[in-house]
Amino acid sequence: MKRIILVIGARGMLGRDLMGILQSSLPNDGVIGWDIEEIDIRKEEETVTKIEKLRPEIVIHIAAYTDVDGCELDEEKAFAVNAEGTKHVALAASRCRAKVVYLSTDYVFDGNKREPYLESDPPHPLNVYGRSKLKGEQYIQEWVKDFLIIRTQWLYGRYGKNFVDSILRQASKKKVLSIVDDQIGSPTSTADLAKAISVLIQFNGKGIFHLANSDHCTWYTFGQTILKRSGMDEVRVIPISSQELGRPAARPSYSVLNCEKLKKETGLTLRPWPEALEDYLATYREEKIEGGNWR
Ligand SMILES: NC(=O)c1ccc[n+]([C@@H]2O[C@H](COP(=O)([O-])OP(=O)(O)OC[C@H]3O[C@@H](n4cnc5c(N)ncnc54)[C@H](OP(=O)(O)O)[C@@H]3O)[C@@H](O)[C@H]2O)c1
Repeated sequence: MKRIILVIGARGMLGRDLMGILQSSLPNDGVIGWDIEEIDIRKEEETVTKIEKLRPEIVIHIAAYTDVDGCELDEEKAFAVNAEGTKHVALAASRCRAKVVYLSTDYVFDGNKREPYLESDPPHPLNVYGRSKLKGEQYIQEWVKDFLIIRTQWLYGRYGKNFVDSILRQASKKKVLSIVDDQIGSPTSTADLAKAISVLIQFNGKGIFHLANSDHCTWYTFGQTILKRSGMDEVRVIPISSQELGRPAARPSYSVLNCEKLKKETGLTLRPWPEALEDYLATYREEKIEGGNWR
């Protein structure tokens, strides 16, 4: 019999890539995608009733309020979606005895470690977004027997607002860009991440896993690389500090994730971020230009 796999957050940046990958890599399963139009996870009764009625075997919960600075300014919304919303999904899944795959973030860490974070390292979020996602992790662990928590970071992809597109857009209008140079992480392609999530599901991964493209850099180096590989290196980039940028939410200065557990259990390592970026630019640069997104 066909398994039902439900993706919540299916029309987000990662969701759209993930839907495509799951439909092609799991052709014998029924993959169903819902987003806020079909289910508002803030509403407990609606969430529980709808999921129970569907009776999925796997719920992949990637819906979230992902605007990190927005979360800082609206803590109530951040916790309603990312924490309580996740609790509602967890409750529903536990009633159907479904496995839950939950997407979490490097921002559960404070960045004081200075070497890649292990899944077992104690979390200590610096901002509201990180705290609300951590609370989501805790609800999943509390309510669901068979869970897979995937922490990832610095996502960019074809289907959402992201750093790569933003740099290209700004570079088409300005001669000088200022980019923060005191936060270190691993830029991660949603296309690569979606493939890795699908592999991990096929291996029936359990517990917490860190998944990101390999190698790391600062946002400044990431920005410089984007411009260089797009033939726009005439634009000057100035390194600035997070303090100078003055965003509402604090970010960890170091949040590289150790992805050895993924390699040990599945043999998989995500490729270095510059390779993934190269592919993204080669595939979507024209589309972005024609779409008028940044030129
Ligand atoms: N982006 C990153 O750099 C990053 C880094 C680490 C972890 N993550 C995690 O990875 C996952 C996917 O991220 P993403 O960047 O693909 O996010 P995204 O593009 O913002 O997608 C999230 C989706 O969830 C939907 N949503 C928001 N509130 C909802 C609600 N109350 N009920 C149902 N759906 C709701 C959003 O709809 P609207 O657009 O209409 O609000 C959107 O379609 C998230 O769990 C995020 O926390 C992301």
